[in-house]
Amino acid sequence: MKFTVTRSIKAQQKLSRSLAVRNKSIALVPTMGYLHDGHLALIRRGLKEADIVVTSIFVNPSQFAPGEDFARYPRDTQGDLKKIKSAGGQIVFIPKAPDMYPDDFQTWVDVTDMTKALEGRSRPTHFRGVTTIVTKLFNIVRPDVAVFGMKDYQQAMVLRQMTRDLNWPIKFIIAPTVREKDGLALSSRNKYLSPAQRREAVALSRSLKAARQAVRTGKTDIKLLGREMTRIIKETAPSAKIDYIAFTAMQTLQEVKTVGPDTMASLAVQIGPVRLIDNMKIGGGKK
Ligand code: PAJ
Repeated sequence: MKFTVTRSIKAQQKLSRSLAVRNKSIALVPTMGYLHDGHLALIRRGLKEADIVVTSIFVNPSQFAPGEDFARYPRDTQGDLKKIKSAGGQIVFIPKAPDMYPDDFQTWVDVTDMTKALEGRSRPTHFRGVTTIVTKLFNIVRPDVAVFGMKDYQQAMVLRQMTRDLNWPIKFIIAPTVREKDGLALSSRNKYLSPAQRREAVALSRSLKAARQAVRTGKTDIKLLGREMTRIIKETAPSAKIDYIAFTAMQTLQEVKTVGPDTMASLAVQIGPVRLIDNMKIGGGKK
């Protein structure tokens, strides 16, 4: 189909309905724009799963707390459209904030438990914004498949839980994290790092890989793994401030004491102006 950009909710609803009538399946890839290869990998994955991929671009105000970087979140719609087109994405939905959140907006979707851990501790209102906007996108786009990235591990788990709890007939896909050569997870916010901070930013993936390696050699005590990760971060990124290092069961996000086959390590670290997050499965051998 012809590359199409929709900018109103009505236009996207109409387009989604006409695709459904023609028996075309839809994969949705929600994004906040300023796309990189991690986002494009989700679009390519969507194309394997459905006939049409709808990529949404919307910097969602309700998931930023006051003082966070909403106003200066990077934007480059023209560049994004080119990238989506070259990845094979057919439809781009770019709604306007006053249409998504009119003045009398007052309905929120809240996943109650899993949102309290990890990111939820430092950002207590964040996930309510994420689950609400994704609900709205699901209702407007009506996808058969939705694709999210493991980069935002907790977000993926929370949204999967929501999709189950609210009975959407949507195939929920979580795609692996795309990384730079040195291990840094791609992120739209990486552009705020100075060259020196960019070098320090490798600390996150380096500490995660070290933890995974330690588990492979039989070290499964999370206190010890946490200490080792902290040491590596301090050594690699002297200016970094560690927000948290956590070891959780993959599905439930419950903290564990010793590493089991589905244990995830995740962390948030502030380097200069940027709060970086990353995660890795450290239990259960390769992958
Ligand atoms: P954004 O940060 O733009 O990310 C959009 C999607 O890309 C998310 O599913 C995220 O996990 C995935 N992603 C980001 N970096 C990635 C990487 N290096 N490798 C693989 N996937 C990656 O996450 C959001 O936007 C928003 O919270 C959103 C879900 C759109 C709701 O507003």
